[in-house]
Amino acid sequence: MEVTTIILAAGKGTRMKSSLPKVLHKVCGKPMLEHVINAAKGAGSTREVVVIGSGADKVREEISGVEFALQSEQLGTGHAVMMTKDKMANLEGTVMILCGDTPLITSELLQKFIESHEQSKASATVLTAIMPDATGYGRIVRNQSGTVDKIVEHKDATEDELQIHEVNSGMYCFDIKTLFDALDKVTNDNAQGEYYLTDVLGIIRSQGFLINAFVTNGFTQILGINSRYQLATAERILRQRKNLELMDNGVTILDPDSTFIDYDVEIGRDSTILPFTYIENGTTIGENCSIGPNCRLQNTKIGNNVTMQFVYAHDAEVDDEVVIGPYVHLRPGTKINRKVKIGNFVEVKNSNIGEGSKLPHLQYIGDTDMGANVNLGCGTVTCNYDGKKKYRTTIGDNVFVGCNTNLVAPVTVNNGAYIAAGSTITQDVPENSLAVGRARQVNKTAWKDKRQMN
Ligand code: UD1
Ligand code: CA
Repeated sequence: MEVTTIILAAGKGTRMKSSLPKVLHKVCGKPMLEHVINAAKGAGSTREVVVIGSGADKVREEISGVEFALQSEQLGTGHAVMMTKDKMANLEGTVMILCGDTPLITSELLQKFIESHEQSKASATVLTAIMPDATGYGRIVRNQSGTVDKIVEHKDATEDELQIHEVNSGMYCFDIKTLFDALDKVTNDNAQGEYYLTDVLGIIRSQGFLINAFVTNGFTQILGINSRYQLATAERILRQRKNLELMDNGVTILDPDSTFIDYDVEIGRDSTILPFTYIENGTTIGENCSIGPNCRLQNTKIGNNVTMQFVYAHDAEVDDEVVIGPYVHLRPGTKINRKVKIGNFVEVKNSNIGEGSKLPHLQYIGDTDMGANVNLGCGTVTCNYDGKKKYRTTIGDNVFVGCNTNLVAPVTVNNGAYIAAGSTITQDVPENSLAVGRARQVNKTAWKDKRQMN
């Protein structure tokens, strides 16, 4: 059966105190709205209409693969759904309604929810949970026989109703026609002066149709994010879920509480992640790696059997059997090939480091194409910038660079060449030759004695 999903995401998110629309705030590296969309798609939704309003342009820019409906004035959740009416005309069957601010919802739960709605033949099913602290949520009011009568918003609830712990998740399945007929009857006569979607349930019920509640025991799935504190809570829960999933797939995480892995990251089995490590969007790590402690990896591809500690890498690529760190910065456009060793205090930018080469200590390598088995002495620097333009340095295979060498780009050091320590290389170095680019040493004998005489 085809299911269409409407996702409400037009609200201002006043309680976030942010210039960013609430639904674009990230949880584990991804806007919360995107988590909700993915959960819907994963549950079998075939079409998603997202209602946008506050910061609509920003949402359009960030989010793709869905249709948008505009709610230019935010008059409430019921009003928001009304804005999709044109898109829903002539449709039959089930529409699922979700909120863009519940990023912890999973496709597994939504799938069960849709199934339960369709099997029950109810006109509406609301997803509910027993919430230890129900503050802020709409309360599910049941009648004596236990069926759902209506939903009362926190701000409109009586003392008795406030004692109810069963809350509205803000997620519903409706028969499309019944929903839009009932929406026409919703008024804004309530504490917030808004058109509440929740009122639709009472209306449908009073028309004699069946409404059902699907109670989930995992209340964390329905947590709605209205404040920065709730955002941090969601972040923690999702991070735990991600860590657990990785551990279930054979990754060792020494201390999950101090390991921060974004939702889309992939890590191969038998890799170990050490504490204080951040592995962010777009990063993939192969098998048998040891990453951390203290690594921050963003959009970086890492092969198998790689060891890294105290590394910050972004938009970089690291092949198999590489050892890096501590205190290394890999900047965008960097490709580290197999069996390379990078030691302490090294920065590499927009460069290709050939197989088996060694950058053991204190190097800056920028805009460089380096061959295989090169050995860079301590303190090698590529001078890639003349204050106006950047230039490339080319180093062949099996080159040996002595300590404290400057390679002034554009310059080429050909295969097998040697460079004497302390050189400043401004001209190309031919194959297999030795380049010495420094002042010759002069020893002034007995200089100290003469100095003291004067
Ligand atoms: C809503 C429910 C409440 C439920 C809770 C679950 C209503 C009236 N209340 O309350 O019963 O327990 O969610 O998290 O539905 N939005 C629009 N346009 C608007 C107003 C809101 O698109 O005019 C969107 C918001 O962007 C948000 C979602 O609807 O994604 C929910 O709005 P919010 O203001 O957060 O509702 P709650 O007060 O949390
Ligand atoms: Ca909310």
